[in-house]
Parts: sequence; structure tokens; C-alpha cells
Amino acid sequence: MELEPVVEKNLNRHLSVAKEWFPHEYVPWSEGRTFDGPLGGDAWSESDSKLPEIARTALVVNLLTEDNLPSYHRQIATLFGPDGAWGTWVGRWTAEEGRHGTAIRDYLTVTRAVDPVALERARMVHMTEGYSNNHDHEILHTLAYVSFQELATRISHRNTGKVTGDPTCEALLAKVAADENLHMVFYRNLLAAAFELAPGQAMRAVADVLADFQMPGAGIEGFARKSVAIALAGIYDLRQHRDEVVVPVLRQWDVFNLSGLDADGEIAREQVAAHLDTLEQQASRFEERRAARAARLAATS
Ligand SMILES: [Fe+2]
Ligand SMILES: [Fe+2]
Repeated sequence: MELEPVVEKNLNRHLSVAKEWFPHEYVPWSEGRTFDGPLGGDAWSESDSKLPEIARTALVVNLLTEDNLPSYHRQIATLFGPDGAWGTWVGRWTAEEGRHGTAIRDYLTVTRAVDPVALERARMVHMTEGYSNNHDHEILHTLAYVSFQELATRISHRNTGKVTGDPTCEALLAKVAADENLHMVFYRNLLAAAFELAPGQAMRAVADVLADFQMPGAGIEGFARKSVAIALAGIYDLRQHRDEVVVPVLRQWDVFNLSGLDADGEIAREQVAAHLDTLEQQASRFEERRAARAARLAATS
């Protein structure tokens, strides 16, 4: 309730800067062809897809992540409630996220970029599983998580667009990424206000969320293997996670200079600093391994 005026201000800000866009304008409908089944068209075959394997993998992960919107909606609707600016934001955010899944699915289906049967089966499994994390019921933890997650998703969509080699798909994913960026700004501003109201609690939330951060699609079948491929392709890797997601958001909150922390807040800040060091080591090690792998592949080809 203390954050309500901040929500209202940032909701109005969001509505004034968000640009209306239409998913149907980014789908090349005339390329479409009827599928097999009741309508007697052509079954999907591997040769239908014009996209590189890694682009398909990333698009499917990103789409399944968007598909799980009912789970995310349930979580924030429960936490934020239906009333006032909080409630309006829940509705608006859900509507924008709903556009993402629709747009990407239309594109993939019309262009026959991926196997539609496998995609539907993966969606059924993933949505039945639903989404949850370790801090589902804590508001500041949730605001911290989505601040990082929306930015992570923005980067993942944008870089997926680049590896498709298809300007249409890249333009579509750039629109999606622009939405994710505005979501990030909204949540980041809310947590910035929380840092003023209750700095110790906000710092605790940030430290806890960073410690066990996982992408929202982590529950997708085969996610570990897929996320390695996505990292190797430079679509989303530990270096980007640290340098383009975690560090810039922490900088906006000025976590290493702010004052007024209680004892636990100070401990949490030290944990955040230690986490950045760990991420740095992990990111460097990953980059070395990726470079060595690339050199090996170059030598054998
Ligand atoms: Fe989205
Ligand atoms: Fe988003």
C-alpha cells in the first residue's frame, strides 16, 4: 500500500511511453500453407524451416516461456491484488505479455519454422507444470526478480532475432524486446522506491533473488541442454547475465552507495557483492571454454 502512489505514477509513465503495435503486421501470412489433419494439407517437414537450428531452439524456449503467462499472472495477481493502480498494472502487463506468445506462435506456424506438433506437446507439458519460484509470496522478492527477468528476456528476444537471419522475425522480436524493456523499467522503479522506504528489506530481496536466479523457462523439458546451446550461440550467456542484466540494474539502485541499511541489509549487500565476483569467475570460465570449443571446431573443419 505504501508503494501504491509509485505504482500509479509508473503506470501512467508506462502508458505514455508504450507504443501501440500489432502482431499481425509482423507475420508473413501469404507464406502460410494448410497443414495435414482434418483440412488435408501438408504435414510439417524439417525441410520446411528456413531458420538455423539454434534460432529454432531459442524461439521455442522463448515462446514456451511466454506461453506460461497464466502462471505468472496468477502469481502477480495474487501478490498485487485486483485494486487500484496495482490491479490496473496486472491487467495491462498481462495483455502485453499475451501479445508476445500470440505473435511468436503465428510467425512460427505460418513460416513452418518449427514442428507444430512437437511445439504443442511441449506447450501442454510446460503449462501443466506451471511456474513457481522460491519467493512466490514475497512482494519485494518478486519485484526484484522481475526487474532482472524482464531485462534478461529482452536480451534473449533481441539476440534470438539476430540469429534467425530473417529480417521479419528480427523486427517482430525487436518489438517484443521493446515491451520487455518497459516492463523492466516499471519494476525497477518500484523496487527503487522500496529501497527508499525499506532499504534493508529491499537489499535482502535482491540478494536472495540473485542467489538462486533462474530464467522463467527453466522448467521447460530439456532446458539445461537448450540453455547451453543458447549460451554457446551468445544469445544469453553468463557474461550477458552479469554485465548486461545484473550490473546495470544494481547500478540504477545504487546498491553499493546507499545508506540506511539495517544489520541484515548490510549482510545482504555483502552477499550481492560476493555474487558478482562469483558470476565474474563463472562468466570468464565459460568464455574461455567457448573460445576453446570454437578453436577446436575451426581446426577440424
Ligand atoms: Fe514477454
Ligand atoms: Fe515482459
